Amino acid sequence: MAKTWTILGLESSCDDTSAALLRMGAGTPPDVLALVTIGQDELHADFGGVVPEIAARAHAEKLDVCVSDALAAAGLNLSAVDGIAVTAGPGLIGGVISGVMCAKGLAVGTGKPFVGVNHLAGHALSPQLTEEVPFPYLMLLVSGGHCQFLIVHAPDRFTRLGGTIDDAPGEAFDKTARLLALPQPGGPQVEQTAQVGDPVRYAFPRPLLDRPGCDMSFSGLKTALLRTRDAVMAERGGLTRADRADLCAGFQAAMCDVLAEKTRRALAECTRRGVPVSALAVAGGVAANQSIRAALEGVAAEAETRFVAPPLRYCTDNAAMIAYAGGLLLMDGHRDGMDLSARPRWPLDRDSAPMLGSGKKGAKA
Ligand code: KG4
Ligand code: ZN
Repeated sequence: MAKTWTILGLESSCDDTSAALLRMGAGTPPDVLALVTIGQDELHADFGGVVPEIAARAHAEKLDVCVSDALAAAGLNLSAVDGIAVTAGPGLIGGVISGVMCAKGLAVGTGKPFVGVNHLAGHALSPQLTEEVPFPYLMLLVSGGHCQFLIVHAPDRFTRLGGTIDDAPGEAFDKTARLLALPQPGGPQVEQTAQVGDPVRYAFPRPLLDRPGCDMSFSGLKTALLRTRDAVMAERGGLTRADRADLCAGFQAAMCDVLAEKTRRALAECTRRGVPVSALAVAGGVAANQSIRAALEGVAAEAETRFVAPPLRYCTDNAAMIAYAGGLLLMDGHRDGMDLSARPRWPLDRDSAPMLGSGKKGAKA
């Protein structure tokens, strides 16, 4: 009988401290035994964004709490763990170091093997946590720190077809919320406010749609929102509830159009390259947005391609996806040593051109 592995996963690359226990084996669907995540929204609320030093300290304080709570929830102790997987980048370096140091300590203390995992690989493989999604598939990763199209060929082989050249969509949602005096994180607030808004009252740009390829840009959209808001305020001395709703709806409609059209192109590019993708999968916090999800689902249907979106707890930053990605590596014989270092930048596709800019959640991969 194939061996089943119990993997302890750790995630601390941004503003969520997370530990998970996952049971997996060749030919067996992964089983998440426990997932404990402690967010940091309150710690950063006064600063309008994630403060790296505050994040790193909170991770260092909360990682062992998450690990012991996850073990308790699964009814296991450390001796039952067969391997440890930890996010080793890309991300905010202080947080990544906190996780890597915690994993090294656990590995030394227990004598268990451990492996560093690319956070983006965790997201890219997350659809397989709950559904059978055969390789290769196309992944659109849309979060507060990242935005890219990846062909996922295998647990450690990815082709990047394009991505944002400046801000990530989540950053643009958060900035929009800030400009309209809505609370953080902004994505859900903007989505909710947009529900009663008119998406065509204000015309927002659809950046880079006039250029071929799958690259995207969202900083201009953010600036357009600022200018429109200022114009409305100058004209009327303030924003009504309807103005706010219309601004949110217009912004969200532009975001949907850009993501949908670029996804159409990414699917066409897979066909052009002769890569028969089994599905279009989406992950990252922005994938929670129902309008964006519906737009992407529509694109998949047009292309007669299966659409897969993991449940929200596996879409946003979480340690279950890291345990799964690391478990695949461990089962394949990969091991890291005490010389494993934390990497602020770590592109998944070594052949792709480096990205420009640095998002609020660290350097873009
Ligand atoms: O994946 P995630 O939890 O963390 C990383 O960025 O890695 O994503 C968080 C981002 C935030 O920018 C948040 O505003 C955005 O996802 N977000 C949304 C929604 N829910 C979360 N954006 C648009 N609509 C939503 N419903
Ligand atoms: Zn993430």
